Amino acid sequence: MTVTRRMFAAMFAAPAASSVISRLYGQNCAPPPGGTPVNFVPPTGLTLTHRKAMSTLTAGEVTRLRLAYKKLRDLTVSDPTDPRGWLQQANVHCWMCGGGPVEVHQSWRFLPWHRMYLFFHERILCKLLNDNSFRLPFWDWDATNSRNLPSIFRPATAGGQPNSLFDANRSNAASSGGPIPAPTFVPNPMAAASFTAFGGSANSGGGLENGPHGRIHVWTGNSAGVDMGSLDTAARDPVFYAHHCEIDHLWFEWNRRNPVGHANPTAPSFLATSFLFFDENKKWTKIKVSDVLKTTTLGYDYLPGAGLSKPAVPRFTDLTYDASSGLITVPEDEKSTFAPTGLVKKRELVVEDVVLPEKTGLYNVFVGDPAPADGNQAAAPNYVGYIGLIAGAHAHNGKSAIRLQVTDFLLQRILGPGAVLTYAESDSTQATKLTFSNVYISEE
Ligand code: C2O
Repeated sequence: MTVTRRMFAAMFAAPAASSVISRLYGQNCAPPPGGTPVNFVPPTGLTLTHRKAMSTLTAGEVTRLRLAYKKLRDLTVSDPTDPRGWLQQANVHCWMCGGGPVEVHQSWRFLPWHRMYLFFHERILCKLLNDNSFRLPFWDWDATNSRNLPSIFRPATAGGQPNSLFDANRSNAASSGGPIPAPTFVPNPMAAASFTAFGGSANSGGGLENGPHGRIHVWTGNSAGVDMGSLDTAARDPVFYAHHCEIDHLWFEWNRRNPVGHANPTAPSFLATSFLFFDENKKWTKIKVSDVLKTTTLGYDYLPGAGLSKPAVPRFTDLTYDASSGLITVPEDEKSTFAPTGLVKKRELVVEDVVLPEKTGLYNVFVGDPAPADGNQAAAPNYVGYIGLIAGAHAHNGKSAIRLQVTDFLLQRILGPGAVLTYAESDSTQATKLTFSNVYISEE
């Protein structure tokens, strides 16, 4: 099995049906009527400017960022119906997670839709600042020394004024500046070998979405599942935009590292998918996925590099999956070709089309029964990874590719009697068997 066949299959899968259009919550966060949309035209006269890492902002850039969000918050007070205001902006995200025309999570729409959303958000902030050189900064949690909530977002006040980057609905772990748990970054999201594993396919999310993206949402939000902890409210926390700017940065960098192997999908159904946004002049604008695959046409890029390492060329081995028993095994004729663990730099298990749990949460994945819910499940010998899921108020019935560690424990099982994968919410031992379509090992 090669990457090519996986990508080919993904390209021709049917588009997801939207079953949630009439959801009440969606009506509550629907945008004001926009009239007949105009087609997006790339902005002219914008100087190509790098989006910068949060940890490298100058004092002047921090002041400008705070001013931008203050103006956005002021606008929502002075004119609550202005589609560019703070709450209206946050509601755009709420609308597209179940209330709007098409769901943008748990499929290949995730990366391009959020890129568009950030682009219009950035243009609006430029307009409010009357400064076209403003670009969103990214929360650079790819770098080991930036793995906590950026300090400029933490205090309730700054310089005697309310801090426009503050949000009261955050977890203690995040607001105290504590570290993002280390297992969040294992396996390395940048080591995904195909777009399906990295960014998803027509009907299924990708490893980045349900890996660090979802887990950092859940970690940042408070225990009641607001703001960052629920899709309906996530964009009410200013750090949402910085977190998604990092997701956009990692997508850009993943493409850059291997323009051939890491190519974006080319299926016409992907490229032609379109969405609606209000632009910085309140124009109701229709924009297509194909409009945003090159960020330079949107006036920004990222400097090369990320704190997460660069993968080499992988090899793939399909595992056998018995859907009724749930057992996965290495096929007999492949067993001898598995090198002892020590000789392989990086080896991971990719499980495709995993049926996701419904509720926001951190779900640890195990071989067999879950470890005791003692807060240290990731240290259990049968732990292989996690699903960091941010959901909304409604059920998603989502699916995703997930990426897990090939531990010695797992290796012994799949080379022997077989392994059953289960998941449990991190504070529970209630196990659910993982259901999926197929599974393979990628290694280098
Ligand atoms: Cu639209 Cu981070 O979710």
